[in-house]
Parts: sequence; structure tokens; C-alpha cells
Amino acid sequence: MSDRVDDKKPIRVWCDGCFDMVHFGHANSLRQAKALGQYLVVGIHTDEEITRHKGPPVFTQQERYKMVRAIKWVDEVVEDAPYVTNLETLDRYNCDFCVHGDDITVTADGVDTYHLVKKANRYKEVKRTEGISTTDVVGRMLLMTRQHFYRGDKEYIVEKERSSVMGQDCLAKSPWTGCSQFLPTTKKIIQFSEGTEPKPTDKVVYVAGAFDIFHVGHLDFLEKASKFGDFLIVGLHTDPVINRYKGSNYPIMNLHERVLSVLACKYVSEVVIGAPYSVTTDLMNHFQVDVVCHGKTSFQLDINGQDPYAVPKAMNKFVIVDSANDMTTEKIVERIINNRLEFEARNQKKEAKEIEIIKQLEKEKQNLRSC
Ligand code: CTP
Ligand code: C5P
Repeated sequence: MSDRVDDKKPIRVWCDGCFDMVHFGHANSLRQAKALGQYLVVGIHTDEEITRHKGPPVFTQQERYKMVRAIKWVDEVVEDAPYVTNLETLDRYNCDFCVHGDDITVTADGVDTYHLVKKANRYKEVKRTEGISTTDVVGRMLLMTRQHFYRGDKEYIVEKERSSVMGQDCLAKSPWTGCSQFLPTTKKIIQFSEGTEPKPTDKVVYVAGAFDIFHVGHLDFLEKASKFGDFLIVGLHTDPVINRYKGSNYPIMNLHERVLSVLACKYVSEVVIGAPYSVTTDLMNHFQVDVVCHGKTSFQLDINGQDPYAVPKAMNKFVIVDSANDMTTEKIVERIINNRLEFEARNQKKEAKEIEIIKQLEKEKQNLRSC
């Protein structure tokens, strides 16, 4: 650990990773990392590096850089960060130590990517968020499962059902990227939320939608929408509502998961958990909304055949915002399905590697006990 001459110097924390299909698990690791210091630098690997060590990423490096920059606990992003974290990088960015989740990341040759910083005692761990991983989300898309979203008393899949959906391999799963289940708590929402009210002088902006697999299109839209005021509220439609207008196994991410992904975005001040499909007069009054925005994407009429934005339009408070980004949730699913074989191979390889590491760790523990 570097000797601290000036105690007042803010502690600078380094994190790095692939941050592919940025989800609330990534955001939660960055939140915990930031809490260990005052300034958070996040290094992100290039597409080439990820392909070499793990398999092709779903998102391009430019998309991944942008997504991480928009997470509210991130102060700085370093592009093209080395896959094996070294001391030179930590020193170049003046970071005191490196933080990573409590899983093990290895290179293509099976080397722990944090062995150098661990040896130098400049490594700290935070708790990995259980029940969410890129691997799991990709699995939902490939298998077209519907078990992740709200279905009344069957909201969550039970382990027996899951094994039959995902195949027997899943029974010997890795606790890190294997298919487990995210348990949403109020504590997590509080940790992610700003918890602030709009000031009386604030102009309140309201937007609503699915925000499923929160992506760069959503991000560009929210950034632009936020410029119409001072306090941005995002209304998230419920899972059955989204499934009604999108069909298939949409949404890919359930309401609880979408809440956290949107709350992690630095442009968002507040989230409505299960917003009405149509923007009602009650909602406009309750939040004292000044402007309602929607992107250039199309939207469906409500079940009563009415325009969901009829109320704000009549109040002259409706604006169409051009995100200038044509990313959609469907495009992400398409990317994955088009590269199905590669992603399946990548998922299996990653999990098999982790199971191998876990077995090894258990063996070492047993050996220590018997000594
Ligand atoms: N992370 C976490 N919780 C998760 C997923 C990731 O805390 N559910 C953390 C990782 O431990 C790491 C950081 O997020 O510190 C960046 O992760 P990344 O390199 O993208 O790794 P993966 O572990 O491969 O994430 P995923 O399996 O979701 O691709
Ligand atoms: O499709 P979804 O309901 O998730 O979209 C939420 C909001 O984001 C909508 O207003 C939509 O028009 C906007 N959006 C956008 N550009 C994109 C994707 C979504 O402006 N590429």
C-alpha cells in the first residue's frame, strides 16, 4: 500500500473489468468500491482483450465505456485497461488500491488477473451481487425462458424447475456466474437511490417505458431528457404490461432488476416502480411534472385504445426527444441470437473454469485442515 504523506489526499480506488451488458451487479460493485474511498477510477478492457481471454463481448468497447461513465459512483473511466491488473497502472492513475468482487477472474491461461495487486497488498474485495451475471442474462435470451418475470404467485423459479429449463449441467453450477436468483430488498433500493426530493424551484421531467436490458440508447435518451429540467423521474412499466405489448419472454429483466439498473444512472433522480402505461392527470399532479418526454421510438396505444400521452399532450407538456441512438432491447437479443453458438460456448467455458477454481480452492482448504 502506498505510504500516505498527506492524510487529506482523497483515497483513489481502482476497479477494472469487462462491464459487458452493464447490469446492476456491476453498478453495485462500483458503489461498494467507491465507499472504500473518495474517487473511483474504472478501467475497462478492449473488445480484443475480452475476446482473447473470455470470448466475444456483446457490446462494443465504445458502448461499454459510455455505459460505465454514466454510473453515478464513477468519477473517471480509463479505456483499454490491461486484463491483468498491474502496479504501474495503479500508480499511473494515482490509485491506492484495486477493488474487485469476491469471484475469481482468470486469463485464457488460467492466471488470476489480480495476482500482482494481491501480492503487493493493494487489493480489496467487495461482495459480488448474487443472482445476476451477463452469463445469466444471455441465457435468458438464448433459452427464451419466461421464469424471470412476475407471474403472480410463481414470481420466482424454484431450483427444480430451473434445472429442467437450463439443462442438467446447471445443477453443478458456479456460485458466481451460474444461474442463481436475485433477491431484491428495500436496503438495495435505498443504497442505489438518491433519496432526494425536487426543490420547489426544480423543473420536473417525467419519462416512462420498459428500460429493459438498460442500454446505450436508453442512456442517450435519459441524458437528453434530463436537460429539459432539474429532476428526472423514470416510470417503469410492470412486467405483465411490457409482456402485453412486447410478447415472447419480454421483459428480459424483471421489474426489480430494471429499477436498480435505472437508479444507477447518474441522470436519474427518482424511479416509479410500476408506472401506469398511460400518463395520468393524477401522476402529473402528484409529481408536479413540468415536461413529459418520449424518444423517437414508436409506442402502442393503451388497452382502451387511447394515446398514453394524451394527458401531457393536452397540457402542452409533451416533448419528443431524439436520442440519436438506434439501439433497442430487441437488437441486443438479435446480437446474442445471431452469435448463439459463440455465446453458448463462452458461457459454458466461463462456468466450467469457475467450477474448476472452486474445486481447487476446496481441495486447498481440506489440505490445510488435515495439516
Ligand atoms: N460483479 C459483481 N456482481 C455481479 C457481476 C459482476 O460484483 N453479479 C463485479 C465483478 O466481481 C467485478 C466487476 O463487477 O468486480 C466487473 O465485472 P466484469 O469484469 O464485467 O465481470 P464478470 O464477473 O464477468 O461479470 P459478468 O459475469 O456479469 O459478466
Ligand atoms: O423501449 P423503452 O420503453 O425501453 O424506451 C424507453 C424510452 O427510451 C422511450 O422514450 C424510448 O423512445 C427511448 N429510447 C430512445 N432511443 C433508443 C431507445 C429508447 O430514445 N435507442
